Amino acid sequence: MERVSAIKELRQQVTAWRLAGKRIALVPTMGNLHVGHLELVRQARQRADRVVVSIFVNPMQFGAGEDFDHYPRTQEQDATQLERAEADLLFTPPVQEIYPRGQTVQTLITVPGISNILCGVLRPGHFAGVATVVCKLLNMVQPDLALFGNKDLQQLLVIRQMVEDLCVPVEIIGIPTVREPDGLACSSRNGYLTAEERSQAPALYRLLSETSKAIAQGRSDYAALESEGKQSLTAAGFKPDYYSIRNAVDLSEANGETQKLAILAAACLGRTRLIDNLLVERE
Ligand code: PAF
Repeated sequence: MERVSAIKELRQQVTAWRLAGKRIALVPTMGNLHVGHLELVRQARQRADRVVVSIFVNPMQFGAGEDFDHYPRTQEQDATQLERAEADLLFTPPVQEIYPRGQTVQTLITVPGISNILCGVLRPGHFAGVATVVCKLLNMVQPDLALFGNKDLQQLLVIRQMVEDLCVPVEIIGIPTVREPDGLACSSRNGYLTAEERSQAPALYRLLSETSKAIAQGRSDYAALESEGKQSLTAAGFKPDYYSIRNAVDLSEANGETQKLAILAAACLGRTRLIDNLLVERE
């Protein structure tokens, strides 16, 4: 696996691959890789000839008081895992390479509507930070496809809309969430949980599964299901931010006619904020 940290070197390599007719996949990450990330790499390998993985803890998507300074940085371990997963190139740019003029004067990509609901309400500016860095990475690598986890469903849909609106020639692929054996969605932030919180955390997936089952059995009183979900999260020791049943295509409000649904939840356990979702298809 080749390792580069400058855009110029990255471009030299991907240009050579493109001229040789290779199909290129990009897996953007913030590092501290877990099995969910490695699944993205595995899926990328199945769909492309060359796999580029980026590790960049993007300051622009963290709000004041969030965990940017403490976000786990484990680059050497990550590189070892990526070697084993047979990634072809690891791109680890320093902040200066991505934001050479500084973040405050950086051109911003804001994706209206979908960025301002759910997590966007609680983390203002977060999705502009994500859309901006992903747009830059796509322009740097110019991959044929880019892969993201369905766990961050709102992020995935923001990126899809950005790519469509700006006519970026790339296929965006969402990969099903990888879970621990007890159902907890894999996330770098799970490492923040204390032992007690870790034992409580699977309740999030359990409650989403119960709501999904209720919908599959014919319930469509979504407001009631949302409020039951929120109450159950509180009873399980969480501080819920939202528990919401939405249209899975664009996260608009769901109604009795909506076929593809997403049940999304965000909640804090102690100081750790967890998010998860389940997709449900109605008959
Ligand atoms: O999901 C992530 O790890 C990040 O939000 C991403 C997509 C790499 C952008 O920084």
